[in-house]
Amino acid sequence: MKDQYGRIIDYMRISITDRCNLRCRYCMPEGVELVPMKNILSYEEIEMVCQAAAKAGIRKFKITGGEPLVRLGCPELIGKIKKIPGVEQVTMTTNGVLLSKYLPELLENGLDAVNISLDTLDRERYQVITGRNELFRVLESVDQAVEAGISVKINSVLQKGMNEDEFLALARLTLEKKLDVRFIEMMPIGLGKKFETIYNEDILEELKKQYPDIQEDRQIHGNGPAVYVKLPGGQGSVGFISALHGKFCQYCNRIRMTAQGCLKPCLCYGKGVELKDIFDRHEKSQKCRTTMADQETLQYLYQAITEAIQLKPKSHRFENLSEITEDK
Ligand code: GTP
Ligand code: 5AD
Ligand code: SF4
Repeated sequence: MKDQYGRIIDYMRISITDRCNLRCRYCMPEGVELVPMKNILSYEEIEMVCQAAAKAGIRKFKITGGEPLVRLGCPELIGKIKKIPGVEQVTMTTNGVLLSKYLPELLENGLDAVNISLDTLDRERYQVITGRNELFRVLESVDQAVEAGISVKINSVLQKGMNEDEFLALARLTLEKKLDVRFIEMMPIGLGKKFETIYNEDILEELKKQYPDIQEDRQIHGNGPAVYVKLPGGQGSVGFISALHGKFCQYCNRIRMTAQGCLKPCLCYGKGVELKDIFDRHEKSQKCRTTMADQETLQYLYQAITEAIQLKPKSHRFENLSEITEDK
């Protein structure tokens, strides 16, 4: 389905939980308040949203969180979404801590690709950034996912004075392993506001000094906003997600859903379209055993998704911090 600016919206990011087993300092502070479980959509509800979304032209789903793998049954949910007619791809973004544990089940259920968050290769820094000592598990997950042959992309957020000096070591992972590494500019969402953003352009300049033969890579690597280059001899590519300094909103292809069932037309703006009323009505009609309940609910969900797509803004306005809403 096209939005009012002519962009084809065929990708949906779904947060299945606001919980996470890490406490990255730019994302989730220690002691963060969590949404009560009764307010989180059930898997049945998420599946219905996906069915309605597929009818509205969504072809690719990205499962996110929080950390999606802390919610039990995540692989089975992926399997169910994959079976919906019209769905071409289901991918996941994870911090990698539980990935090696669930990888076999995820693959059995048809997971197409995985993005793994990894900001540092240093154990002590990892502990400082994420609040947990789990680097070894993440590195194991990376290797196992590569070995399994699915597309693997590493997401790295560089922070001034913390891990900015690791850009080369991280980029060089693409020489050693068949994976992509993407540098994400720190966005002013969550605690990200408190950190200074490193310009991706500066990282690219530095990489070019080390590797003058760096090549632009126009191959498609996913469905997201990253642009890529390749180091000479690289098995994978180095990508840049420059939310602040390279606005990519004109190519936006997505809507988001929070774990509580709010459809967000953009990453972090606006009130969004709440699905709670639709599911409350659905529950009531199920109790009365109305035979039309499912079809009617799907129709309402379809309308809500269409509305969210039509509400998409032309671009984000990170420059205007007061407009940002951040729920996962
Ligand atoms: P694929 O390339 O298909 O894997 O998608 P992706 O790169 O969007 O996935 P991922 O979940 O790994 O997101 C990487 C980064 O892009 C994260 O930091 C997201 O917050 C950011 N991102 C994803 N979607 C949007 C968006 O619509 N707008 C902005 N500004 N950032 C986004
Ligand atoms: N700015 C940029 N990236 C962020 N992420 C989380 N918070 C921010 C932020 N404020 C990243 C994580 C993960 C990806 C899904 O989003 O590091 O890799
Ligand atoms: Fe968890 Fe990802 Fe946030 Fe880190 S950035 S606390 S891994 S949701």
